[in-house]
Amino acid sequence: MNGAYFGNNAIAISQRRYLGSKTKLLNFIGDVLQKEKIEFESFADIFAGTGAVANHFYDNSQIIVNDILESNNYIYRAFFGKDDIREERLKDRLKFYNDLDINKYGKNYFSENFSNTYFDAKNAKKIGIIRDDIEKLFEEKIITNREKAYLLTSLMYAFDKIANTVGHYDAYRKVEIQDKRLLLLPLSIRNSKYKSEIYKNDANELVRKIQADIVYIDPPYNSRQYCDAYHLLENVAVWKKEQVYGTAKKINRSHLKSRYNMKTAGIAFCDLINNIKAKYILLSYNDMGTSGNVRSQSRVSDHEILSALKRKGEVKIFETNFKQFTTGKSNKNDLKERIFLCKVNTGIRTKRTVVSSKYNPVQTGFVKSPLNYTGGKHKLLPQIAKLFPKEIDTFYDVFSGGANVGINANANKIICIEKNPYVVSLLKLIQKSNFEDMHQRIINIIDMFGLSQSYIKGYDSYKVNSSDGLGQFNKEAFLSLRDEFNKNKTRIDLLLTLILYSFNNQIRFNSIGNFNLPVGKRDYNGNSRKNIAAFNQLANEKKIIFKNCDFREILELGITQKDFVYLDPPYLLGLASYNELNGWNEKDEIKLYSALSKLNKKNVRFALSNVLEHKGATNEIMKNWAERENFKINKLIYNYKNSNYHSTAKNNNTVEVLITNY
Ligand SMILES: C[S@@+](CC[C@H](N)C(=O)[O-])C[C@H]1O[C@@H](n2cnc3c(N)ncnc32)[C@H](O)[C@@H]1O
Repeated sequence: MNGAYFGNNAIAISQRRYLGSKTKLLNFIGDVLQKEKIEFESFADIFAGTGAVANHFYDNSQIIVNDILESNNYIYRAFFGKDDIREERLKDRLKFYNDLDINKYGKNYFSENFSNTYFDAKNAKKIGIIRDDIEKLFEEKIITNREKAYLLTSLMYAFDKIANTVGHYDAYRKVEIQDKRLLLLPLSIRNSKYKSEIYKNDANELVRKIQADIVYIDPPYNSRQYCDAYHLLENVAVWKKEQVYGTAKKINRSHLKSRYNMKTAGIAFCDLINNIKAKYILLSYNDMGTSGNVRSQSRVSDHEILSALKRKGEVKIFETNFKQFTTGKSNKNDLKERIFLCKVNTGIRTKRTVVSSKYNPVQTGFVKSPLNYTGGKHKLLPQIAKLFPKEIDTFYDVFSGGANVGINANANKIICIEKNPYVVSLLKLIQKSNFEDMHQRIINIIDMFGLSQSYIKGYDSYKVNSSDGLGQFNKEAFLSLRDEFNKNKTRIDLLLTLILYSFNNQIRFNSIGNFNLPVGKRDYNGNSRKNIAAFNQLANEKKIIFKNCDFREILELGITQKDFVYLDPPYLLGLASYNELNGWNEKDEIKLYSALSKLNKKNVRFALSNVLEHKGATNEIMKNWAERENFKINKLIYNYKNSNYHSTAKNNNTVEVLITNY
């Protein structure tokens, strides 16, 4: 009898308005998998939303469907559940609901709270009556769990269709509500011979429990929380008859907030990718950059995506044109929708959650220290490294500063020796911390002092451009942070943040031991995040030892012929900031050469960086020593223009050398 009542009308899972739904992109996703000849038996859709993507693969593979929202979970249970359902009885009930005479009922939770908001008074009352009835049937065991999901899904699709909204429940239209009929329809259910698993988990927790051939990730992109947009469906699904707040009549949703809509999305994303167990990871993610409405801007940067994915395996990106939903007017409406496909390397180490240093850490291919030490050797590394011996047991980086050389060294053991205790503590902190925890600590300090975050908000929101930089905006906050650190010098996390915002990311202390550099132009941006992440990973992998001691102690370290010592002392010629206090003088220079001569006698290989000539002056002590000992003076090519900000002279007559005894 119901066949006639409903005709061929039945609800398909994708017949739903939903932010970021991939219904229109199903062919694109399918084509990518086909083009790449990807064979799979199981497909996990872990931010499933409507469930449309899982549904696309439902007939041909096992599926795993997950979302944090209970309303979505009911929909999956209805469409993908395996329990038998008595469809004819359910259709009878739907017909009964459609034909209800609401006048026979009193008011209810829904009519009290939602009349003349998203629905007119009649429909609001009807929705409340139906929802109460579904709950009663379930409690009295007249219907099963899946049958409850079936009826509830039909109800949610029905009211979503007539709701007086623009597709989500942030607000209702303040116009005369037209007389719309709430019509509950049967669901278009298909049986699949494959297994399906349905979850309501935080995706980051779920990936620790499941595995699948393909894990598809379609997280929220921007600051817009799904629990805000769909609070009404959630209210009806959960049906705890909670108090509602504000004109939009929202329930308390604090427990449903997703980290993917927050500023820390990048961290959650990195953790997620690291913990996925799959042959392939398929990711949908648009890059809204910094243009468009702030609420629409993407939360995870391309750098974060690629670093995380490349750590797992080979990555390919596919694009198609797609109209993007934005919450406000955006000049970037005609966005390319992108799919990242990562073929996961087997046997990859996934325990630690760090960003890959393989992702183009620096142009030269070497990792760059987060500490921009004056005279840092990062730029010269390609030339210097070529001159290092191939076989090294222990590599000593003496006067290591930011450890640009030590971090990139290849040896069985690497020891970085530095006299400045703050520098050693900073590098140890970066090495020892879990990257996400340290990142979060930096963000907390940034927030506490009100420093800029151009990486998230763009330069425009600080009313500055990239060439002028953020100095003016950050000046006051920077000075407060500097004061705080100078009062409490054991807080190395404060010092790290201070350096990220200080002049050229340098480190300098005055005669009474206070950090005294002024604010810089940049902030905790993409480059500094990348440098810290890469340093954190490599310092860990190589188990580098950071040792706080004076170069005079190197002779007592038991260095042998199998080892190699690289030294980058302060230069007699030129004035670098580390040289201003207790400056390096001729006595130190002579002491250093004498120590090196002693190492030479023990057949220990060493390489010494220095400046032979600078602005017409020559370092005669070094020249004479090297010639006397018959050491090799390798001249390096270097434009030394940024080495000393006190000097205005053009330093193009500087001769950088590497003196070697092998
Ligand atoms: C872009 S939508 C997915 C759209 C879906 N692919 C579709 O075609 O309908 C993102 C979904 O992720 C869910 N979500 C947000 N944070 C989550 C988390 N931490 N774990 C699981 N799901 C989450 C949201 O509720 C939302 O449904």
